[in-house]
Amino acid sequence: MFILILGAPGSGKGTQGKILADRLGVPKITTGDILRDAVRTGTALGKEAKQYMDAGKLVPDSVVLGLIKDELAKPEAKEGAVLDGFPRTAGQAELVDRTLAEGGRRLNHILLLDVTEEELIRRLRGRAAVESRSDDTPEAIQTRLQVYQRDTAPLVAHYAQRGIVHRVPGTGTVEDIATEIKRIIGR
Ligand code: AP5
Ligand code: MG
Repeated sequence: MFILILGAPGSGKGTQGKILADRLGVPKITTGDILRDAVRTGTALGKEAKQYMDAGKLVPDSVVLGLIKDELAKPEAKEGAVLDGFPRTAGQAELVDRTLAEGGRRLNHILLLDVTEEELIRRLRGRAAVESRSDDTPEAIQTRLQVYQRDTAPLVAHYAQRGIVHRVPGTGTVEDIATEIKRIIGR
């Protein structure tokens, strides 16, 4: 089963994606984590990505498409995966759809975590106070929210045509949201 968790920065993709992937026994693929690791270890990918990430902008598709293809080709993702943070652009969605289809696979569910902008900002500022993600500055948070609306939110319409989008109220306790997701996908 392939499940995409879609939502604005701070909507809980990582938090809910982990719970879901653990329950289903499939890997969670998080492009943000892969890119942050690359920045930390100073690889060519990381050097390319850092400037965009710090500014809250998307890393260009020319850099990210190859990474996505590699992740979906891994044997552990053969039977299913939870996709956290990608696809994020029309080009990425096209690649994911095509790559899965080549292996006779497809996205089964899109979970859209719905959280008000006020709450998103509250969470990200809260995280900035305890962790130090370089894109949790007020300026980068603002850019991330705008980029989400401009580049990623339109994917909802793309997938809604297939009838696989489920809107999940993303405000409430982590446990309640996880229970709602379990109810929606039926396992
Ligand atoms: P990415 O790592 O994907 O970050 P993001 O989309 O900005 O989202 P976050 O990870 O900040 O939030 P989340 O939705 O995972 O929520 P979380 O569970 O952490 O991307 C970062 C950057 O990498 C991008 O800007 C871009 O530059 C680059 N990038 C990544 N993928 C890319 C791609 N495919 N193409 C191009 N560029 C890409 O929760 C947030 C906080 O809220 C946490 O502190 C958490 O504890 C708390 N929280 C969670 N749930 C609740 C709840 N129910 N109640 C209260 N608090 C909660
Ligand atoms: Mg995340």
